[in-house]
Amino acid sequence: MSNLDLSSGKSATLQRTAQVVEHVRMARDTYRIRLEQPDLARVIRPGQFVMLRLPGRLDPLLGRPFALYDTFLDAQGEPAGIDVVYLVVGKMTGILKDVAVSQSLVVWGPLGHPFPDPAGDQDVALVAGGIGQTPFLAHIRELLGTRGYGGQPVRRRTRRVRLYYGVRDAELAAGVKDFESAGAEVHLASNDGSIGHRGFVTELLESHPAPQHLFGCGPEPMLHALAKVAERMRVPCHVSLETPMACGVGICFSCVTRVKTDDGWDYRRVCVDGPIFESRKLCWE
Ligand SMILES: Cc1cc2nc3c(=O)[nH]c(=O)nc-3n(C[C@H](O)[C@H](O)[C@H](O)COP(=O)(O)OP(=O)(O)OC[C@H]3O[C@@H](n4cnc5c(N)ncnc54)[C@H](O)[C@@H]3O)c2cc1C
Ligand code: FES
Repeated sequence: MSNLDLSSGKSATLQRTAQVVEHVRMARDTYRIRLEQPDLARVIRPGQFVMLRLPGRLDPLLGRPFALYDTFLDAQGEPAGIDVVYLVVGKMTGILKDVAVSQSLVVWGPLGHPFPDPAGDQDVALVAGGIGQTPFLAHIRELLGTRGYGGQPVRRRTRRVRLYYGVRDAELAAGVKDFESAGAEVHLASNDGSIGHRGFVTELLESHPAPQHLFGCGPEPMLHALAKVAERMRVPCHVSLETPMACGVGICFSCVTRVKTDDGWDYRRVCVDGPIFESRKLCWE
């Protein structure tokens, strides 16, 4: 097992080999892969991500970023590994879907910052588009205090969690039962009306009473629309960006986004400064 400390900070980012112990189809082109890796599972928190690489392959050479979907526990109730849910879109994910149980992947993490605690303790809304639902299962469990992550105290951080989840069509909806059984009220939307509300997920959100805090993840146009809804509702909003990345650890600057500063704007690296940002601080245009 390779074991390399990539970080100079407090929480060590470890590169390790992890065995695939489960690999299941969840929806069209969407899979959940379960990786046994107790050291990583003990420290990773909702909102953080890992880079995955196929060992022994030079193509694709670079790892790809994936959010923590959840940790899984061993028979003693201790964190044993992580689940990642992915949509097949290109080279890496196209190969990943054929990786068999008992094969191994190279995984490094935890990377990035976790979700911050919400403002107010009553009512939180999570808004997901496309494959942007993936960071929210662990987040729901942490918010409702049903599971602890990264050694943090297990405590209820909000009374109510709503998940607004928009997909192109019903066949792409992945994990709805997971979110419901974790305790979220799930509201679905689809472009073609084959599941839930026909139209944008942000329209569906706006047709309901405003929450006290919004979190979003999904394609940038959806996040931009969400940032505008948050402004209208006058509630804080944090979004998790899915910017393509090369190194994942702050070295290559391939993942920069523009944020507002006192004297204009500046670049931030999504991998080390994010992936979660306050929506009102991002330069959307
Ligand atoms: C912090 C973070 C967390 C993520 N979590 C997840 C997750 O949980 N599940 C999941 O399925 N995906 C997630 N992604 C996106 C995932 O990293 C990409 O889908 C993946 O890198 C695609 O790799 P590929 O080799 O299959 O595609 P490639 O062959 O690299 O690219 C295929 C096509 O997708 C485009 N593309 C690649 N990456 C992105 C991207 N990030 N956004 C938009 N277009 C892209 C390329 O331009 C190209 O057109 C996350 C991204 C980030 C930054
Ligand atoms: S991916 Fe290299 S700096 Fe962010």
